[in-house]
Amino acid sequence: MKRKVTKAVFPVAGLGTRFLPATKSIPKEIMTLVDRPLIQYAIDEARAAGIKEFIFVTSRGKGALEDYFDHAPELEGSLRKKGKKDLLNALKSTNMDSGAIAYIRQHKALGLGHAVWCARRLIANEPFAVILPDDVIAAEQSCLQQMVEAYADTGGCMVAAMEVPPEKAPSYGVLDVRDDMGSLVSVNGMVEKPKMEEAPSNLAVIGRYILTPNVLQNLNKIKQGAGGEIQLTDAIAREIEDGRDVFGYRFRGQRYDCGSKAGYLQATVAFGLSRPELRDEFGAYLDEMVSLRQAAE
Ligand code: UTP
Repeated sequence: MKRKVTKAVFPVAGLGTRFLPATKSIPKEIMTLVDRPLIQYAIDEARAAGIKEFIFVTSRGKGALEDYFDHAPELEGSLRKKGKKDLLNALKSTNMDSGAIAYIRQHKALGLGHAVWCARRLIANEPFAVILPDDVIAAEQSCLQQMVEAYADTGGCMVAAMEVPPEKAPSYGVLDVRDDMGSLVSVNGMVEKPKMEEAPSNLAVIGRYILTPNVLQNLNKIKQGAGGEIQLTDAIAREIEDGRDVFGYRFRGQRYDCGSKAGYLQATVAFGLSRPELRDEFGAYLDEMVSLRQAAE
């Protein structure tokens, strides 16, 4: 089985209801952390991991995403004329090679598993990565790159895993751990959104996966799971039932759940503070806010 991963699927067809009314006309993935949309962080992470083909699963109302990755000749021309090199470079990072990016429609939001299945013909018969752009991960080495390196040794399927407090388990897919080897764990099973008392561990699956094409076959077979959606975790769990290896990977980095308001705001603060040109002014403002809040209590 080929262990090099060069294709990544970006499922961006969800309704983004937690950010309504903004997401009525703006795709969630276009929302910005400082000055870069969430999708740009995901693309940069994939590129750092050696991904060459980028497959977007989109839906109605996501046109802004396609435009974002298109060239902008008028804008570039005008910046060039004015000698604005920094801004030109910022724009260049959004350009994709011809043919490197593909868009597939998910006609109905039937769940993450269904979104990935929609990309089956483009994935064909090779291992592939899945990146959920609303999980933003700040890390020295890109999270997917860490996983791709680990995957070269393990094969099988691999999901990014993170420790969560028990009361948060019902919001995640949770791993039933067979063997804990440190950054890698082998897995007996996975439960999507368990009740707190039924969670098999404190290791939650977050939005990075490396999957074998078998998972696409499994998606053909499975029925709607938790929340009436076709769950990707159910299709991965099938791999284990069929006797194939599934691993959890404890990545090094800080993950922000930018699909939720609180997570998005936390990420905005963290990424703002990490920018040298903003650190002083923004940091001073935050200090002031904290002092005002304490004084009011
Ligand atoms: P979420 O569970 O965050 O759902 O999806 P959502 O629709 O984006 O947002 P809320 O919960 O309504 O606020 C996780 C990922 O799976 C994709 C989403 O685009 C997101 O990247 N997804 C989800 C699909 O592509 N299709 C679906 O049918 C469901």
